[in-house]
Amino acid sequence: MIIYFSGTGNCLAIARHIAQALDEPVMPLVNAVSNDLTAEKRIGLVYPSYDFNMPPAVRNLIPRLRLNPQAYIFAVIPCGAQAGNSIWTLRRMLREQGLTLAYSHKIRVPDNSAIVFSRNPNDQQWKFQRFDGRLRQIIADVKDARHAHHFSTWSLIAWLMARPRMEAWMLRTFRPVVNEDKCIGCGICARVCPMRNIVVSDREVPTPDGRKHLAAIGPHCTACLGCVHSCPQQAVEVNGLPTLKDRQYRHPQVLLKDLLLRR
Ligand SMILES: Cc1cc2nc3c(=O)[nH]c(=O)nc-3n(C[C@H](O)[C@H](O)[C@H](O)COP(=O)(O)O)c2cc1C
Ligand code: SF4
Ligand code: SF4
Repeated sequence: MIIYFSGTGNCLAIARHIAQALDEPVMPLVNAVSNDLTAEKRIGLVYPSYDFNMPPAVRNLIPRLRLNPQAYIFAVIPCGAQAGNSIWTLRRMLREQGLTLAYSHKIRVPDNSAIVFSRNPNDQQWKFQRFDGRLRQIIADVKDARHAHHFSTWSLIAWLMARPRMEAWMLRTFRPVVNEDKCIGCGICARVCPMRNIVVSDREVPTPDGRKHLAAIGPHCTACLGCVHSCPQQAVEVNGLPTLKDRQYRHPQVLLKDLLLRR
């Protein structure tokens, strides 16, 4: 079973490649926590690096996974550059649950958070140059049930950034806001959100052409930016910046429909 957490498709694309090569099913993390996975002999976790660590939502969901202590567990971190402490954090968390992380690696991909800093993630396609080679290596290693870790040395800065105050500040900085003038209530963001944290409100608001419903973002945002990058009206904004269509990013092998979670 390959379990992924993905806002803009990097993790989904990689999870799918691995799953296909290993003939394993794939499942979003938010669904995996409500399944009993103790019969699974091989578990892959594919999640991004946020602020040099594990996304807060992933950290909250991992302890809810029901896994077999004998399972071969591996992790792959697709990141813009630095996985930071994210694998250290996973290893510690699994150990606390009586589980062992056998193998880990990172893959460099475009940084979807560039949009928050007025940069274009689509300008980072060069990061895919080593994508296929790294993926082949990971798949071969996991097929052989290798025990190896390829992660950076533990970082004090990454640890400090995961302190509750810093994390709260980060979540505030990256918090998406729905621009009510632009939103048409189509509900795409609600189906993309890996936290199921968006609803299209029942409340109707008047418009010059009639009335419309609006997307409402709930309290469980983990700042994955999936809604920002997927909104067809560019109605989800961060940092007070308008979202530009040409800066919206999705992994090139992933379609919007692939990111839509089933209800
Ligand atoms: C809030 C946030 C923080 C991020 N922090 C980092 C980071 O510290 N290091 C890094 O290499 N990439 C960072 N990224 C980039 C993501 O790890 C990368 O784009 C990832 O592949 C996104 O996966 P997804 O497309 O499956 O959502 C960050 C992205 C977001 C949204
Ligand atoms: S995807 Fe955009 S337009 Fe559609 S409901 Fe969400 S914010 Fe509104
Ligand atoms: S509300 Fe948007 S940014 Fe927050 S978790 Fe959901 S999709 Fe990601």
